[in-house]
Amino acid sequence: MEKALNRQINAEMYSAYLYLSMASYFEDVDLEGCAKWMKAQTQEEMIHAMKIYDFVIERGGRVLLDAIQAPQQEWDSALAVFEHAYEHEKYVTSLINDLMNLAIEEKDHATQIFLQWFVSEQVEEEASASGVVQKLKLAGASKGGGLFMVDRELGQRPLPIPMPTAG
Ligand code: FEO
Repeated sequence: MEKALNRQINAEMYSAYLYLSMASYFEDVDLEGCAKWMKAQTQEEMIHAMKIYDFVIERGGRVLLDAIQAPQQEWDSALAVFEHAYEHEKYVTSLINDLMNLAIEEKDHATQIFLQWFVSEQVEEEASASGVVQKLKLAGASKGGGLFMVDRELGQRPLPIPMPTAG
C-alpha cells in the first residue's frame, strides 16, 4: 500500500506538471483566462500530492520521490487541451479506484477512509474538465468571439492558494 501511495504522489505531481504545461501553452497563445484556470488546477494537484504525502508520513511510512515524466508541450487548440485534461482526469480516477481496490484487498481500513475523499474529488475533477469541453463546443469556440468569452469566464476561477506578488 505504501509503495502504491508513493506512486500516486508521483502521479499527482505529474498532473500538476501537465496542467502547468497547459497553462504555459495558453500564455503563449494569449488566452489568459485559460492559463489562470490551469494554474489553479496545478495548485489543486499539488494539494492532492501533499495530502497523500502527509498521510504516508502520519502512518509511519516513508515518502520516496521519483522522477516526474515530462509533460506534453504543444496542442492544436484550446478544445484539444481541455479534451486532454478530461481524458487525463478519467485516467487519474482509474488510478484512485485501483488504490481503493488494493486497500480493500489488504483490509487497510484507514487507507480506505482516506481514499474516500479522493473518490469524491475525482467526480468533481472529471465534471469540471468535461464542463469546459462542453462550454467550448457549445460556444463553437475553436476561435473567435466564443473562445474569448469562455476565456474570460475561466479567468474567474479563484486560485486555491494566493500567488505571491512580485516586488
Ligand atoms: Fe489529482 Fe486532478 O486529480
